[in-house]
Amino acid sequence: MSQLTNIFIMSLKALFLNCTLKKSPEVSHTRALIDKAVELFQDLGVDSEVVRIVDHNIAFGVSSDEGGDDEWPQILEKIKACDILVIGSSIWFGVRSAVAQMVLERLDGSYADADPETGQYPLYGKVAGVIVTGNEDGAHNVSANTLFNLTHLGCTIPPNADCYWVGDKKRRHNHSSWAFRQLQTFIEYKAKEVGIITHYVDPSYTSQTCIRCNHISKNNRNRLSFRCEKCGYANNADLIGAMNIEHKTRDYRYILESQGCLSATQTNA
Ligand SMILES: Cc1cc2nc3c(=O)[nH]c(=O)nc-3n(C[C@H](O)[C@H](O)[C@H](O)COP(=O)(O)O)c2cc1C
Ligand SMILES: [Zn+2]
Repeated sequence: MSQLTNIFIMSLKALFLNCTLKKSPEVSHTRALIDKAVELFQDLGVDSEVVRIVDHNIAFGVSSDEGGDDEWPQILEKIKACDILVIGSSIWFGVRSAVAQMVLERLDGSYADADPETGQYPLYGKVAGVIVTGNEDGAHNVSANTLFNLTHLGCTIPPNADCYWVGDKKRRHNHSSWAFRQLQTFIEYKAKEVGIITHYVDPSYTSQTCIRCNHISKNNRNRLSFRCEKCGYANNADLIGAMNIEHKTRDYRYILESQGCLSATQTNA
């Protein structure tokens, strides 16, 4: 029985349509996630083919052949020949890519190829799924719409037919804030060990504030350069930022000193 199952699975063919907006050889994140699915399918004996739509000349339209040098008919043949159809899309402004939209519109033409006897569309009997990548959000929206469209076209959608990867932007943010927090804790700990008080300074506007005349303006800063628009004082913007932070620390030190809260060593630290 298991041998029979294997023989049956061996004959399955999956077609992935990568609807990235990037032409080859540019790196496609969606392709990277598709490759993971291809690996999993390989282990199950399913043969896969990946087609990057933007590498082909696909015309806009809702028929199966828009004429001229439209390459959709060749892709449609592959779709008709596969058992598993997976639409891969990147997210653009919260929705599926324009290429994915176009592919779905072109598939609309397959309604015209319905079996005259049964009325079934060419995509009947195929199993479909989606693979989505983005760096923020919109994956559920893309999956929901695309899977719904595929059911209309005749595909069967099994449970858990969507797979997505989003969040590089957020993860990068988390990574960096985690590293800063760790550094802060480390400095606090070491300072306390030797009796030094740690004080947090609000860094807002520190690289936009002139240390000579105190004029604050974002026009004072141009990338790495600082030039006060009022008094003309110029220096490196990061250095200005560091000097202002040092000034703010000094202000805090005066307050502590005036209240008698600092010992001589702490004052010198
Ligand atoms: C103009 C623009 C808009 C984007 N909008 C979104 C978005 O709304 N949600 C999201 O998760 N990712 C968004 N992204 C990120 C892409 O979806 C993400 O980089 C994706 O993995 C690209 O896949 P690809 O390399 O296969 O084209 C956007 C990227 C750009 C440049
Ligand atoms: Zn100034």
